[in-house]
Amino acid sequence: MKIGPYKLPNNLVLAPMAGVTDRPFRQLCREQGAGLAVSEMVSSNALLWGSEKTRRRIDHAGEAEPVSVQIAGAVPAQMAGAARFNVDHGAQIIDINMGCPAKKVCNVMAGSALLQDEQLVGRILDAVVSAVDVPVTLKIRTGWDPQHRNGLAVARLAEQAGIQALAVHGRTRACAFRGEAEHDTVRAIKSAVSIPVIANGDITSPEKAARVLQHTGADAIMIGRAAQGRPWIFREIAHFLATGRRLPPPAPAEICAILTAHLANLYTFYGEYTGVRVARKHIAWYSKGQREGNAFRQHIHRLDSAEAQLASVRTYFDQLIDPPVMAA
Ligand SMILES: Cc1cc2nc3c(=O)[nH]c(=O)nc-3n(C[C@H](O)[C@H](O)[C@H](O)COP(=O)(O)O)c2cc1C
Repeated sequence: MKIGPYKLPNNLVLAPMAGVTDRPFRQLCREQGAGLAVSEMVSSNALLWGSEKTRRRIDHAGEAEPVSVQIAGAVPAQMAGAARFNVDHGAQIIDINMGCPAKKVCNVMAGSALLQDEQLVGRILDAVVSAVDVPVTLKIRTGWDPQHRNGLAVARLAEQAGIQALAVHGRTRACAFRGEAEHDTVRAIKSAVSIPVIANGDITSPEKAARVLQHTGADAIMIGRAAQGRPWIFREIAHFLATGRRLPPPAPAEICAILTAHLANLYTFYGEYTGVRVARKHIAWYSKGQREGNAFRQHIHRLDSAEAQLASVRTYFDQLIDPPVMAA
């Protein structure tokens, strides 16, 4: 699949997730087979650009190309400014967030709340596309609520505005994360526009990935929550799509190696204090479904140093590799 001049290595995309898809996680998912990893959103409010959070979000050192950065906001001129700001800091693709239902975004009428005002959508798209020389992509939900599923109209607007790829999460804004994502709207959008379409929502396994691609005819799929604590899902899906066979799940020793390398990158990227705190949720995700996972997670939440956190992770996974022999 191509986005502007960039040919992606495959059709698997890591979804932008605020608080999750920081640079270490994006790099890890790319290593594990994602063809594109969209960054967490950067606010269009210039007052926030000096913050530590934004400073980290615009740090793309060592990231695989193309670097895609998501921007969020509702004022066309501010969104144009945010696009230029990010291109100046290394973004090679600008992605516009009209898909996020989070309160903080929607209260200021951004994210998926924008879908109820198609005129404003058009003005934002025009402003951003004409502000930068790099490809601009758009991420939407299927509509405002189930009675106002205007995803198709927005997709046509996007195509007219020069948007170069469109990701569609198969829920409306009102659905939040409830119920199953539907992919019929994505299918309708794909057959109505000629820009690349990326299907998103509840893709949690290689089989589901294949079914969604087949059902929608989409050019690519985007995976969010299923990659949390499971970045290897990308190589599993890539393998399944190529061969029709499942890769065996990674053994505890490999999970431990991936996780400890991930932790080391988090400590370097955030510094020890914040790194240890950001790492807790990732460790919890990696240990989901593993033996004695609950007790391990409670223990991890009490640790404050990188050394103690790493040591506990190693001990925990070591005993998954070599379970202690119980006395009869
Ligand atoms: C913790 C979290 C943060 C998210 N942040 C964003 C965001 O910043 N921008 C955005 O467009 N979507 C955001 N989303 C939505 C995801 O990109 C994706 O559309 C959604 O999770 C559905 O895909 P999934 O079923 O594969 O998780 C977020 C989702 C989660 C779970």
